[in-house]
Amino acid sequence: MSARKSKTKTAEPPATADLSEEEAKAELDRLAKAIAHHDKLYYQEDAPRISDADYDALRRRNNELEARFPELIRPDSPNKRIGAAPSQTFAKVVHRKPMLSLDNAFDEEDVRAFFQRMKNFLRIDTEGLAVAAEPKIDGLSATLRYEHGELVQGATRGDGETGEDITANLRTIKDIPHKLRGKGWPDVLEVRGEVYMDRNGFFALNAEREKAGEPVFANPRNSAAGSVRQLDASITAARPLHFFAYAWGEVGDEIAPTHWQALEKFRAWGFTVNPLTKLCHGVEQLLAFHREIAAKRGELPYDIDGVVYKVDDLKLQERLGFAARAPRWAIAHKFPAEQGQTVLEDIGINVGRTGQLTPFAILEPITIGGVVVRRATLHNEDEIARKDIRVGDTVIVQRAGDVIPQVVGVVKERRPKNSKPFVFPEKCPICHSLAVREPGQAARRCTGGLICGAQAIERLIHFVSRDAFDIEGFGEKNVTAFWEEKLIRTPVDIFRLDYDKIAEREGWGELSVQNLKRAIDARRHIGLDRFIFALGIPQVGQVTGRLLARHYRGYKHWRDAMIAARGHDSEAWAELNNINGIGEDTATDIVGFFAEKHNRAILDDLEREVTVEDFTVAAPVASPIAGKTIVFTGTLETVSRNEAKARAEALGANVAGSVSKKTDYVVVGADAGSKASKAAELGVKTLTEADWLALIGQS
Ligand code: IVH
Repeated sequence: MSARKSKTKTAEPPATADLSEEEAKAELDRLAKAIAHHDKLYYQEDAPRISDADYDALRRRNNELEARFPELIRPDSPNKRIGAAPSQTFAKVVHRKPMLSLDNAFDEEDVRAFFQRMKNFLRIDTEGLAVAAEPKIDGLSATLRYEHGELVQGATRGDGETGEDITANLRTIKDIPHKLRGKGWPDVLEVRGEVYMDRNGFFALNAEREKAGEPVFANPRNSAAGSVRQLDASITAARPLHFFAYAWGEVGDEIAPTHWQALEKFRAWGFTVNPLTKLCHGVEQLLAFHREIAAKRGELPYDIDGVVYKVDDLKLQERLGFAARAPRWAIAHKFPAEQGQTVLEDIGINVGRTGQLTPFAILEPITIGGVVVRRATLHNEDEIARKDIRVGDTVIVQRAGDVIPQVVGVVKERRPKNSKPFVFPEKCPICHSLAVREPGQAARRCTGGLICGAQAIERLIHFVSRDAFDIEGFGEKNVTAFWEEKLIRTPVDIFRLDYDKIAEREGWGELSVQNLKRAIDARRHIGLDRFIFALGIPQVGQVTGRLLARHYRGYKHWRDAMIAARGHDSEAWAELNNINGIGEDTATDIVGFFAEKHNRAILDDLEREVTVEDFTVAAPVASPIAGKTIVFTGTLETVSRNEAKARAEALGANVAGSVSKKTDYVVVGADAGSKASKAAELGVKTLTEADWLALIGQS
């Protein structure tokens, strides 16, 4: 489950030591109610309203008062309820192999497109391709590390790179062996799979909780997630949790040649593999299996939200490799979205960090697929007009898995009389500057730029967010409050905070100030890819951040090149456009960012506070092409161009789209055109396909 969000502002009450007995009594009453309320939001609605730190502060306050006045302990004291909310105090575990996510397919067409992509990439016939199909379990993924057959560590997925150490809790799950059975397991084995709660167990647990006056969980997934993140493992042990094994991370030796056989080994070693898993051949069999599982869905003892398809042959999996966040060899074929009808109470407008105005629906709360939905996206101005969505309408809301709920249509028969079409604002709701819509653009943008508080705050929130500077405990709430109090204006102010002033703020004790300082100081060193992403340049997300870091390697080099790229006839502009995966639009935005004097000044200032570390490619030591720039041209015989590029990148090379003096090799296939002649002209070394394969040791 996601961390509690920080949405509400709370003024901190007086210190507990200053309260009289009578005041303490009233305060304990208030705290019991507040904690129960936030537990409900967290467990039941999956919609936390306060940060974990604020929640912990409430509990701490309650405990301090209970310690001072034991006679005032209430029968419904938050401490008497088992199953306190998860705490943040688990150790971090850096995954040796990242725990990736899956791309989604929502219909048959998407699945066929997945096959087509693999066919183009591998240049093989995928018609009868062996693909394993497994129910997609709606729980949370976990990784289990075995050394010499013994379970030594268990962790959550976290952000995919770093999870939390929940070994003690995972050990309480019966499906998880403490020692591997049988023989033949490698010395190091990381088994990955899904922790879930079966539906009967979930209902029984909720019935018990209800009887005890405790908040009930909204669905089995929330319940499983809350259960494994208990500090007290005996609470986890009492919860009806299970585990299905379906993947692996680091392994000492190869386990098997196919996914199917690997799952068989898992079974032999003592794991539970989902018995419905089936080895299919070709797309039609997969689709038939999907229909079969969809029909069985209601009878299954646990929740599933789709079927996962995985190429069976591990050699093919390796060739296909990974795109940005998910493997190319697997896809999750989701079940159709669930829908519900509710009243649209109002339309709100959100102003993003680039000034984009995004409308959202404020709904009468409705439960769809076990989750309470209060807000949904309305996409943009044209969508509202096209669907003629009006405030007061009864609307159809759709929610599919982890996708943001959306308003898909209006029940026109239930439209109230006198309703009026929605008029999209032409001014920014925050700074009141004009909001304009450029021709051809779907979004209206606030022109307030630097004076727009909403944009400034959103940019700062982005800067400190998890995939950017990742400053612990410093999120939306603090950024907004500090901005409003003029403690921060630009990112660099975060590193020059006046801690004395913060200590004077209500609710900030010495400890919390120190924690904040520590969290900020811990981020004075940052990798180039994260740094680029943190800047919030339009169109530069994580993937582009990484592409740029990978290409330019050092901050100074990147910065100078982006400034030099301002002239469209410059070599620097050509080089930027040449990076595989960066289009002209994105290049224009990046160069536009550097063209702003104000942005350059912020960067110069940031350099005084932060060290940006060079991007290092984790290429195999023996790679002969690490750091080299390679261009592919013409048709290759043995592999597709995409596969050749992916392989080159995996070996640490930069793949460029056109030839320049900086190119190290041009790999020339059949029917190559101007790039081959350009290479000859510039004296760049050309390789035949055979030379290339020999160079990377694949001939
Ligand atoms: S495979 C590299 N198999 O779905 C592939 N994931 O949307 C790793 N999930 O994070 C995932 N059932 O938590 C895989 N049979 C299954 C799954 C499964 C559920 C979850 C898992 C993953 C998420 C991705």
